[in-house]
Amino acid sequence: MEKKVTVVGAGNVGASLAQMIVQDGIADVVLCDIVEGVPQGKALDMSEACPLWGSASSITGANDYSYTAGSDIIVVTAGLARKPGMSRDDLLFANAKVISAVVESTSKLSPKAVIIVVTNPMDVMTQLSLKVSGFDSARVLGMGGILDSARFRTFVAWEMGVSPQDVEALVLGGHGDLMVPMPRFTTVKGVSLPALISQERIDALVKRTRNGGAEIVALLKSGSAYYAPAAAAYQMVKSIIFNQNRMLPCAAYLKGEYGERDVYAGVPVVLGSCGVGKIIQLDLNEQEKKEFDKSIEAVRSLVEKLKL
Ligand code: APR
Repeated sequence: MEKKVTVVGAGNVGASLAQMIVQDGIADVVLCDIVEGVPQGKALDMSEACPLWGSASSITGANDYSYTAGSDIIVVTAGLARKPGMSRDDLLFANAKVISAVVESTSKLSPKAVIIVVTNPMDVMTQLSLKVSGFDSARVLGMGGILDSARFRTFVAWEMGVSPQDVEALVLGGHGDLMVPMPRFTTVKGVSLPALISQERIDALVKRTRNGGAEIVALLKSGSAYYAPAAAAYQMVKSIIFNQNRMLPCAAYLKGEYGERDVYAGVPVVLGSCGVGKIIQLDLNEQEKKEFDKSIEAVRSLVEKLKL
């Protein structure tokens, strides 16, 4: 394969993402984890599925980062997952340690890679990765908005009784409880949501979207969502590998856009082989801007806690 993707963390999200990449045969994968045997076992299992998938990708499991050298993309899913009753913020210090170690090792071995951070609390973990890697901010981004938007799309599709394929949605801001679903920029086959359903129903769908991660945590009892998070990260991987220049909501480093500076926030970006090609500026109304600012304030408070 021409392209190489490192996935750090061979847990639910990491292994699911690795499977998507290998099953579609779009890149070779190195799956790394701190637990001995787990990445090797999952990689062997997937290798043995390749003849059945008709895939020519190779997948290697490792505890040692030397295997990751020369990767085009590094996806970081390593860390602790949320448990019931635990907020994303509770994970802050534990996961900061993990991310620092992972990014320190992998970024040195793949100095040209694009880093995608999935580990929560994602926005601040992405900012930490920027600092530790020393990469240009265009090549360090976080996965959150695509997942939140996919959840919003699902709920809108169910509400309307239409295919989720016909629903486009946008969720901006931090990937936390204060995320900002944008009904005005959410459409069903081009028709804006407020023209289709009542404000009361929109509010209910927004609320469910904001609670999307917690709803799944409460059902699973142990662990958190992984199919949709992996699918969201996969969309980013594909846009980078194939230089698709897709416009996707991702956590990107703001340098004055949306009136914010030196902080990661979920905004629409154009994503290609060099990472963030550009950030798309939307004209937010007063209420949207207020919610966006509040969401970014929450991200900033975590950035300050980590003294980034
Ligand atoms: N280095 C490498 N891997 C590590 C390290 C480390 N220092 N610390 C933990 N891991 C591995 C764990 O061994 C585990 O296999 O990270 C993996 C995490 O997998 P899961 O516990 O299954 O968590 P998952 O559901 O995949 O979620 C991972 O993504 O969506 C977010 O909130 C979620 O932050 C969490 C992350």
